[in-house]
Amino acid sequence: MKLLITGSQGMLGTDLCASAIALGHELDALPRTRADITDVGAVDDAVRAAGPDVVINCAAWTDVDGAEASRDAALKVNAAGAANVARAAVACGAWTIHVSTDYVFDGRKREPYVESDPVAPLSQYGRSKLEGELAVAAQAPDSHTIVRSSWLFGAAGKCFPATILALASQRDQLTVVEDQVGCPTFTGHLAAALLELADTRIPGVLHVAATGSCSWFGFAREIVEQAGLDCELRPGNTAELGRPAPRPAYSVLGSERGAPRLPDWREGLARYMSTSYVHAG
Ligand SMILES: NC(=O)c1ccc[n+]([C@@H]2O[C@H](COP(=O)([O-])OP(=O)(O)OC[C@H]3O[C@@H](n4cnc5c(N)ncnc54)[C@H](OP(=O)(O)O)[C@@H]3O)[C@@H](O)[C@H]2O)c1
Repeated sequence: MKLLITGSQGMLGTDLCASAIALGHELDALPRTRADITDVGAVDDAVRAAGPDVVINCAAWTDVDGAEASRDAALKVNAAGAANVARAAVACGAWTIHVSTDYVFDGRKREPYVESDPVAPLSQYGRSKLEGELAVAAQAPDSHTIVRSSWLFGAAGKCFPATILALASQRDQLTVVEDQVGCPTFTGHLAAALLELADTRIPGVLHVAATGSCSWFGFAREIVEQAGLDCELRPGNTAELGRPAPRPAYSVLGSERGAPRLPDWREGLARYMSTSYVHAG
């Protein structure tokens, strides 16, 4: 299959490109330096030149806190940019897979969010991603899959396990938020599911995240344990952090639509640790 992947140098995009190549797909990787997705002409030209069967959009404004002060800039990439990608895909007869987020939910539920649950983003980032979903659906009504995932971590990006590993190696004690619960999802696992969906082309919104759930505190505890580090972890709360963007307190994703099932988040962490981290001890 011929794939075009935007955001190809991002955390997810990097793993997705590697998985696509490993599976023998023909790949056109499109980093921001080759086409800014907010540039209609550049996107049209790049997609037309590649002539893909499927376009997977991993390009996004992902600075959740930064989006609070830069709403328009986030919207430009996450909504207008996503629309440009989908429009260009339709023009050359390609299917669009667009990656979205659990932050489209407000986090009031206490059981997994399924695809038909009402959206109510709390943050500007969440709103911009929701606008992106709507824009993709409008541009490619009969040829899109929107994949909502959550709490991504992978070797190619700044992510929570990398931060915890660095801090826990330097400090005796760490406080980590316990009042947000989600599904930490390994980008290598999500990449495999995106490629499966490039084949199956299930239309509409799908929830694709790791099996199981935990708080950031629980995630940190597992990271420290798997790494064999000696660092005391203390549970903290979101308010103490004082971050600009509100986050959903609960954003566990489940599927009622037969989305691909991913391995447990602890398995994803073990894969991440085996490729990204060699404990010195
Ligand atoms: N990270 C998470 O926890 C998480 C959770 C759920 C869903 N998601 C979604 O998953 C997708 C991938 O996220 P990620 O974690 O891989 O993010 P990432 O590492 O920040 O990658 C995003 C990529 O998009 C590129 N980009 C930004 N603006 C662009 C533009 N105007 N034109 C072209 N490329 C642009 C970035 O390039 P530069 O580096 O040059 O800016 C970067 O390579 C996103 O849609 C995100 O919303 C992420």
